[in-house]
Amino acid sequence: GFSWKLADHPKLPKGKLVAMIVLDGWGEASPDKFNCIHVAETPTMDSLKNGAPDKWRLVRAHGTAVGLPTEDDMGNSEVGHNALGAGRIYAQGAKLVDAALESGKIYEDEGFNYIKESFANNTLHLIGLMSDGGVHSRLDQVQLLLKGASERGAKKIRLHVLTDGRDVLDGSSIGFAETLEKELSDLRKKGIDAQVASGGGRMYVTMDRYENDWEVVKRGWDAQVLGEAPHKFKNVVEAVKTLRQVPGSNDQYLPPFVIVDESGSPVGPIVDGDAVVTFNFRADRMTMLAQALEYEKFDKFDRVRVPKIRYAGMLQYDGELKLPNYYLVSPPLIDRTSGEYLVHNGVRTFACSETVKFGHVTFFWNGNRSGYFNAELEEYVEIPSDSGITFNVQPKMKALEIGEKARDAILSGRFDQVRVNIPNGDMVGHTGDVEATVVACKAADEAVKMILDAVEQVGGIFVVTADHGNAEDMVKRNKKGEPALDKEGNVQILTSHTLQPVPIAIGGPGLAEGVKFRKDVPSGGLANVAATVMNLHGFVAPDDYETTLIEVVD
Ligand code: 3PG
Ligand code: CO
Repeated sequence: GFSWKLADHPKLPKGKLVAMIVLDGWGEASPDKFNCIHVAETPTMDSLKNGAPDKWRLVRAHGTAVGLPTEDDMGNSEVGHNALGAGRIYAQGAKLVDAALESGKIYEDEGFNYIKESFANNTLHLIGLMSDGGVHSRLDQVQLLLKGASERGAKKIRLHVLTDGRDVLDGSSIGFAETLEKELSDLRKKGIDAQVASGGGRMYVTMDRYENDWEVVKRGWDAQVLGEAPHKFKNVVEAVKTLRQVPGSNDQYLPPFVIVDESGSPVGPIVDGDAVVTFNFRADRMTMLAQALEYEKFDKFDRVRVPKIRYAGMLQYDGELKLPNYYLVSPPLIDRTSGEYLVHNGVRTFACSETVKFGHVTFFWNGNRSGYFNAELEEYVEIPSDSGITFNVQPKMKALEIGEKARDAILSGRFDQVRVNIPNGDMVGHTGDVEATVVACKAADEAVKMILDAVEQVGGIFVVTADHGNAEDMVKRNKKGEPALDKEGNVQILTSHTLQPVPIAIGGPGLAEGVKFRKDVPSGGLANVAATVMNLHGFVAPDDYETTLIEVVD
């Protein structure tokens, strides 16, 4: 029968401290002035790369290697940390939703049938990120859902859109708004009353995460549910174009707006009896809104009016909390993660990041599961992030504090694994501010140094890797790999992640002699890291885990 007990590794000892460092948004790319990691002073990461050649390599962090639909899909933190923690590759939300729409199964399951009960007499609201980034949502999926719902009786549909500019180029929201408007006007020609009802920039409206700032969710609630916002427009294209003209504005931070009719009334507040679907498949930036929509008891902000709705998520965002209760597509069932195994085998674990990435090394790492497996053996520490700022003004973020917490955890002797996420390359990279991203990379490197020094002191082992690329390439490139220019001849800054592989380095005084990266896993990816780490803790990974990256030569 099944057992949590892991077999002893034939050659590697137990009881060594293993520091597991994930640099967020830290890929490998050619030297270039848009490669902020290259431009920044990063002596620690450089020394790993230029050190023992059999202790540093690249791993795949995008596309099918992390369960995404195609090799054109850049990596992201959700799928990256899922793969790192679970040691296996799961078909992820983007792919599962594609399949359910393609087969039509989405319309047969409980979630859709539940919201469908509202179609005859009430409005269907769709809330989510208007983007083709494929990280949180995809517009083509929304288009299919609009078609499918209208063919199955939805007569009145309202969209509440969040503009992106973070997983896609800044300014692309105008094109997405136009595409969506065209789609909705086609539906209107067929007699379906379909319109955009509200919107706002994702980082300012609705899509906060890990409870960093509930005001963000409240701004969205006011526009989406109450129909109240500081800006009013006749349609979404006008809204996005006008709001983008304000100097310093960008897609990520557009203020909330509502669409109003001729008499100035909002066209789509959410009222009793309506159906609501949050169409993002990714959890982290939807669970806060999901709570506001679903929970009867809720004290994070004053909802003013709480409509009785039929609500479904595109996916269930949190299996442990069963949030939301109804969903259109079943999420990947990520079970038996390395964290759970290791705890069952007595490995005492410390995990830490600052708020904006805290759930990455806990929730995502543990297969989208909240909380501890065993509170006696685990300690998760969240360092509060600065809120209400864009991280280019504070590019060092809490890297130092994370480094210190990890150092203290290592020196305390109370843990066998100390795991951190260092967010700078990613969070500052997303702002598109190249200079600030250089500062961010330097700060991340310093945090790594602090942790490696502690590993050195206790005779431990380190694993340094990343979840996906971002800071190593900050410009959109043409087919030849040169910076792509826009109509005005300016380079187009890339705020999003990349398709680049990421480094992984192992070392430290505790690393047994003869341990090195195998040569026979050339296409290894993030999912191979879990078995590797289990080995370093002295265990053999379960059979169905992706193979280890290391071998021990005598
Ligand atoms: C975000 O949510 O910030 C971006 O869409 C993706 O970034 P992450 O995958 O690094 O969190
Ligand atoms: Co990111």
